[in-house]
Amino acid sequence: MRAMEWNGETLLLLDQLQLPGAVKWIECSDVEQVAEAIETMKVRGAPAIGAAAAFGIVMGARQAVNRDKNEFFNQIERICDRLARTRPTAVNLFWAIQRIKSLIETNADLDVPQIVELIRREAESIMTEDIAINQSIGQNGEPYIPKGARILTHCNTGSLATAGYGTALGVIRAAHSAGKEITVWADETRPYLQGARLTAFELQQDQIPVTIVTDSMAGHLMKEKKVDLVIVGADRIAANGDTANKIGTYSLAVLAHYHHIPFYVAAPTSTLDFSIKSGEQIEIEQRSADEVLSIGGIRIAPPGVAALHPAFDVTPHSLITAIITEKGVVESPDANRMEYLRGKG
Ligand code: MRU
Repeated sequence: MRAMEWNGETLLLLDQLQLPGAVKWIECSDVEQVAEAIETMKVRGAPAIGAAAAFGIVMGARQAVNRDKNEFFNQIERICDRLARTRPTAVNLFWAIQRIKSLIETNADLDVPQIVELIRREAESIMTEDIAINQSIGQNGEPYIPKGARILTHCNTGSLATAGYGTALGVIRAAHSAGKEITVWADETRPYLQGARLTAFELQQDQIPVTIVTDSMAGHLMKEKKVDLVIVGADRIAANGDTANKIGTYSLAVLAHYHHIPFYVAAPTSTLDFSIKSGEQIEIEQRSADEVLSIGGIRIAPPGVAALHPAFDVTPHSLITAIITEKGVVESPDANRMEYLRGKG
């Protein structure tokens, strides 16, 4: 199962709002359709958002191929601004946009059609590299998973959240492939239910034993000694290792710390943001209260009642046992130890 397919002309996105009930592909042929799909979370997960945005730029650039160079560059600016306004927290979005902008700057002397061709190649590289990166994350993380481990994970960090294979779910996949006989507790992940709908779906397809639990069951499971480790993905990691991830991650890290259970973060180096010193500088996306007040379009709360919906939270580095990337693992991360990864993204 893949989050997206690029056919050379248009971007097909698997509508993740419909899963697992229906497998429905949306065909995007312009940047606005891609931006809307990111905003409405038809495509979601930090690396997948970055790759989708890159293809959005390709399609926008192609539509502007006949303009003169200045107009073309202005149009690229507008396209990138539009995509950058879709979701604020996952840094992979800004990383992918910046990667393409830098490429254009370096090759500004070329003709517009040649630049458009370079953008296409770059977007394709972002997608194919991400799969290889996730496999390396899996290899680097696998030694941290003991045989028979009962693993708790949150949100969805698999093929659907990336270009393929996954980050935290990539480590889980690698441990399973290594014959470690692991089992997974999948947090349902309120309010979007990425765990119940997407992680459970992916693991079931791979025949990795998975049991869904509601987010509030984690503490009880840990107290009963039924969790050996927690592993999650990341949307943005600050220079000191503070990590933004799906809302509920911080609570898991506090619980894991209290119960002396290892808490791992698995992410590509494109999720690192060395421009910010700590997690305090990470913008947390505030989504609509309606997404909390309704489930599957059915209202669950009394009319007129308020709800809060921060989509992410920040886990301080002191609660993280190790950050696993494709370039290596930083144990007990802090500002000094994270230096090892600087410039590697
Ligand atoms: O709101 P989402 O579904 O885009 O949030 C996704 C997450 O928080 C993931 O854990 C994170 O992006 C890592 S995905 C490899």
